[in-house]
Amino acid sequence: MIPPIRTPSPEFSPLAIGEDLAPLPAYKSAGTASIDFSGLLADPLKLHEDLSSGCGGQTWPAGMVLAKHMLRYHKDDLSQSRILELGAGGGLVGLAVARGCAVESPLFITDQLEMHALMELNIKLNHLDTQAEAKILNWGEPLPKEIVDFKPDVILAADCVYFEPAFPLLLATLTDLLKLCPSATIYFCFKKRRRADMQFLKKAQKMFKVAEVADDDRPIFSREGLFLYTFKAL
Ligand SMILES: C[S@@+](CC[C@H](N)C(=O)[O-])C[C@H]1O[C@@H](n2cnc3c(N)ncnc32)[C@H](O)[C@@H]1O
Repeated sequence: MIPPIRTPSPEFSPLAIGEDLAPLPAYKSAGTASIDFSGLLADPLKLHEDLSSGCGGQTWPAGMVLAKHMLRYHKDDLSQSRILELGAGGGLVGLAVARGCAVESPLFITDQLEMHALMELNIKLNHLDTQAEAKILNWGEPLPKEIVDFKPDVILAADCVYFEPAFPLLLATLTDLLKLCPSATIYFCFKKRRRADMQFLKKAQKMFKVAEVADDDRPIFSREGLFLYTFKAL
């Protein structure tokens, strides 16, 4: 059997970044932040951030936008949903949903192996062990059996468009998830940092039904180059 191709993921280093890439978030030292998403969470999320495991070890801007959107507009309509987060990093979005939205089934926060320990730590820090589970899901590889059995119908992806070689892998995983559950909705938030990011969107528009999502904060986040869409099966 041919072993699956491991996804290249960039190191968090200015030297690993192409010249046309706008600056990534400033490098922060490891620590634990308390985040209430502008008052949307009465009990703030504790998020340990540590870039030693990869660039997902700190909070990215699209994660904040997507988490706030879910808390503001989907607090009460996800109780029957089966939720999965892709490229979760430390788990910002998924854990915000687990804490602040009424959800009955435990949700999955997923990322590469390097991020697994940080996701687990953040689940524990927030006492969300019965509401969230960390899982390894490498884009472009077959979906893990547990995810196939779970059949997610709400998929969260924030700031997963930042590294061009991973674009086809991410598109393949989004396709697999929509095949698995054709009625699923993918909430997809990203920040445009370079021209190639819009190529990702153009490809997605050919493959999925892409719709811009209404959000009162849109005038603010779109000024910062952030976009929030839903993707659904054609
Ligand atoms: C920029 S971070 C965003 C983290 C988080 N969603 C947020 O908004 O704060 C992108 C995440 O995608 C993950 N990632 C990159 N390539 C991946 C791949 N091939 N398979 C799975 N996850 C991947 C990285 O490990 C990282 O945690």
